[in-house]
Amino acid sequence: MTDLDPYAYVEDRSPGTGRLRPRAAFATDLPTIALDGDWRFRLASGLDDLTGDLAAPEFDDSAWDLLAVPSCWQMTGLPGKPRYGAPAYTNILYPFPVDPPRVPRQNPTGEYRREFDVPDGFPASTAVLRFEGVDSAFAVWLNGIRLGDGKGSRLTTEFDASTALRPGRNVLAVRVHQWSSGSYLEDQDMWWLSGIFRSVSVTARGVEDFFVHAAYDHTTGQGTLAVDVTAPTPVTLSVPELGISGVDPAGPHLIDSIEPWSDEQPRLYAGELLSETGERIPLRIGFRTVAVVDGVLTANGSPISLRGVNRHEWHPLTGRTLTEDTMLTDVLLMKRHNINAVRTSHYPPDHRFLDLCDEHGLWVFCEGDLETHGFEPGGWRRNPSDDPAWREAYLDRTERLVERDKNHPSVVVWSLGNESGTGANLAASAAWIRQRDNSRPIHYEGDWASCAYVDLYSRMYIGVDELAAVGRGQEAPTADPADDAHRRALPAVLCEYGHAMGTGPGGLSEYHQVIEAHPRLAGGFIWEWIDHGIARITGQEDPRTFYAYGGDFGEEVHDGNFVADGLLFPDRTPSPGLVEYKKVIEPVRIRIDPAARQIDVRNLHHVRDSGYLDFRWTVEDGGEPMGCGILTVPVTAPGGTATVAWPADVTDALDAARKNDSGHEVWLTVTAVLAADESWAEAGHEIAWGQGLVMAPAAAPVPFTPAPAITHDGYVALGPARFDARTGLLTRLGDLELDGPRLDIWRAPLDNDLLSAFGEPQADAWFAAGLHRMRHDVLSVEPDVSGLTVIARLAAAGSSSGLGVVYHWTACDTSHADQARLRLETVVTPDGPWPVPLPRLGVAMSLPGTDADVEWFGPGPGEAYRDSRTAARVGRHRSTVSAMQISHVRPQENGNRHQVRHARITTPDGTLLITGNPVIDLTVRPWSTEALTAATHQHDLVRDGSLHLHLDHAHHGLGSAACGPGPSAPDVLAAVTTAFGVEFGSSR
Ligand code: GAL
Repeated sequence: MTDLDPYAYVEDRSPGTGRLRPRAAFATDLPTIALDGDWRFRLASGLDDLTGDLAAPEFDDSAWDLLAVPSCWQMTGLPGKPRYGAPAYTNILYPFPVDPPRVPRQNPTGEYRREFDVPDGFPASTAVLRFEGVDSAFAVWLNGIRLGDGKGSRLTTEFDASTALRPGRNVLAVRVHQWSSGSYLEDQDMWWLSGIFRSVSVTARGVEDFFVHAAYDHTTGQGTLAVDVTAPTPVTLSVPELGISGVDPAGPHLIDSIEPWSDEQPRLYAGELLSETGERIPLRIGFRTVAVVDGVLTANGSPISLRGVNRHEWHPLTGRTLTEDTMLTDVLLMKRHNINAVRTSHYPPDHRFLDLCDEHGLWVFCEGDLETHGFEPGGWRRNPSDDPAWREAYLDRTERLVERDKNHPSVVVWSLGNESGTGANLAASAAWIRQRDNSRPIHYEGDWASCAYVDLYSRMYIGVDELAAVGRGQEAPTADPADDAHRRALPAVLCEYGHAMGTGPGGLSEYHQVIEAHPRLAGGFIWEWIDHGIARITGQEDPRTFYAYGGDFGEEVHDGNFVADGLLFPDRTPSPGLVEYKKVIEPVRIRIDPAARQIDVRNLHHVRDSGYLDFRWTVEDGGEPMGCGILTVPVTAPGGTATVAWPADVTDALDAARKNDSGHEVWLTVTAVLAADESWAEAGHEIAWGQGLVMAPAAAPVPFTPAPAITHDGYVALGPARFDARTGLLTRLGDLELDGPRLDIWRAPLDNDLLSAFGEPQADAWFAAGLHRMRHDVLSVEPDVSGLTVIARLAAAGSSSGLGVVYHWTACDTSHADQARLRLETVVTPDGPWPVPLPRLGVAMSLPGTDADVEWFGPGPGEAYRDSRTAARVGRHRSTVSAMQISHVRPQENGNRHQVRHARITTPDGTLLITGNPVIDLTVRPWSTEALTAATHQHDLVRDGSLHLHLDHAHHGLGSAACGPGPSAPDVLAAVTTAFGVEFGSSR
């Protein structure tokens, strides 16, 4: 900083001035003054609009607004509150011209002031002022004295406050600039938000820092503990549980029979550092050793499989400011969904999150606050990663990452950052880590083509075939043979895959089959944990909450709803994608072999035996319970499989089902649940399940005497049904009014249809072919003595290709309308070339109503699609049309129930019975596909008085094309001649 330009620090590349050296985040019993709460705040439009005497203690700020610290200043504007600036979302692009290190002169700047009292006796001579997160650059004055400035938004910055702090009234002034040179290093795919968004405190400093080294030797069961302490006075270490009391922390202390720390058994030993001056620092020590052995990532001697997620910090009301409760919610939701690993994409999280990972057991890839992706569109020209002028900034960020989080047993890998190209500054950062902490492998995906300075071969969004090649060690060679040899010896990890945007992701089970087949594959992390939707309320009349995304704040450049690509919806409701992931990654696999009458339980844990689980069985006949009980399964070691014969009770239940002769499917379901409470879930929580069809219904056809179709004035009567004589559409079944069915091939495009990381989005081809505007032309309606045949053609204006369709209706002749069955056989024949797959293939119809009870027998209870159906289990399920809708931030096709055998839809007017022949996919919505296609936010969807029913023979797969591969070949729905059947009935 110079007198000429007091704001030079904003644009210079320096990471800061006046700061203390980085150190671990730790608790101490020395006094601390928390400065969270309301601060005085003013938002200046730029450097020309600053408050001259901001820092002066006597400055009168009483007219200024109050703003909570911590908070992001753009996450304001809720009813009755002022709004400061606006959030802006870009994925890759910088929201300003790329001219590093310069940023716009119109640089919104938050001016913060806070008065606080320092109690008598506070040890001011050791006072430290700590900021845990300020976005993006800031300068600090205490009682008018400038302490320094800093950058590195998601990193802790500490200043020496000893000379400026005084007893009694103190005034802290902080100037926070929205943009700075640091913004070039913080181009993560997320909202641009600013302010003091993590806690601020003044704390007394005694022990400066310490580094806990707690290793575990799996061959001897011994732990080694050494704590490097930096302190002005001598410090001793105690770990009472280990018989360690008042010893020199440096040790090393060798301890026999240590219980190691792992995700599965996060054993922490409580310890304490005690300084000569009486300062006490609690420790939570987890012994574990992470190593690459023969190209495999291991912890405590056994290979680990990362079943992970990428987690950004997000809350729909507060942005990147989270409470500890929210952090705990995330950890518990992860653990309850079988997730065992987190990549802290793409910055170090609030340090309390890591405490929770230590406590409940999650492997953490702790990532640096670094991304320069916005240089890629310019061919990486002027990328800071390879520019010596930025070296100090890179090293500073890396040091602050490692120093802050080095004592967490959960942190097993350091990740340099994300998508920052390659370059000497990254190599230097890796080299710095190696000399400071060689106990953890180093990750950085951006260097995948050479892997010159990393310890893991990391890839994102590759398809299963390429993943399998990597698993076999057969990936394409690197340019440099030395790098190639190095890379081939590395374990591989998918740092991002399974892009969870909108409905999907599809294909997760395929990935996991490959991962489980190759020891080199250490698993991966789904992109990403949570949708970053911002809660907003529509206008005054009939206010409705919705989630805003990119473009909703008038941004000049933005990436729309690409910010909503998580396994959780913004309010942390699990999406169907998370439910699917939980099943795909279950740590025990239960397989039922009906022929052999036995059950296999395979333990996929790496250290935990299966003794913590209870197994339960149920036999259901057409969804009706016939028996249930406890299944005794011998405890299996990790990697082992137990095979048990069905207990006699299961056979009894089957005999009862056989006697029942219901004509339904009989399924045996075995679940594995927690036998006792864990820190993260209660006893009874389900971990895994398996199902087997143990009795298939006899295939004997029910007698069917066809009724004649009789033409009346304007309609055709067929058994209990009436059809429009001109259109051939079903208008009535018993007492139920109906409209349809018509052949339907359109689905409201998924994000995975609309976007494509590789090549043209699928939906472009669909729109070009006019699949969203197909016309249904009826060519003939022919009643006869055995039923009704309707011939139609589905085609788009301007297109010579179409789909010919024959609807063949038959009805069973009976005098009881309630038993009457109406059968539809649909035959679809492509006419002309059909180079594009179909979005769906089925029939659509509607009936009056705004909601209905829906009951079905088949997979459920949640939605399922052909490439995302692992989590659906066969049974009798009950829901309502309302509850079956999945509220994606951007509305799209959702809520399909896959392979339904039969269903009942009950409205106040009666019940529609549907039977698949043998199965049919079922979707019911209170709005049309057209409305769903047109909607951009949830509040655009309005019930239109009809229930829109889709009965589909098949859907095109979901895939993960929004960022990754589309559906694999077997899940592509080609237009070929297809016949499918469904039966209808009605009752009151
Ligand atoms: C990756 C990137 C993530 C995110 C994702 C797409 O390339 O690392 O930050 O942008 O794509 O959602």
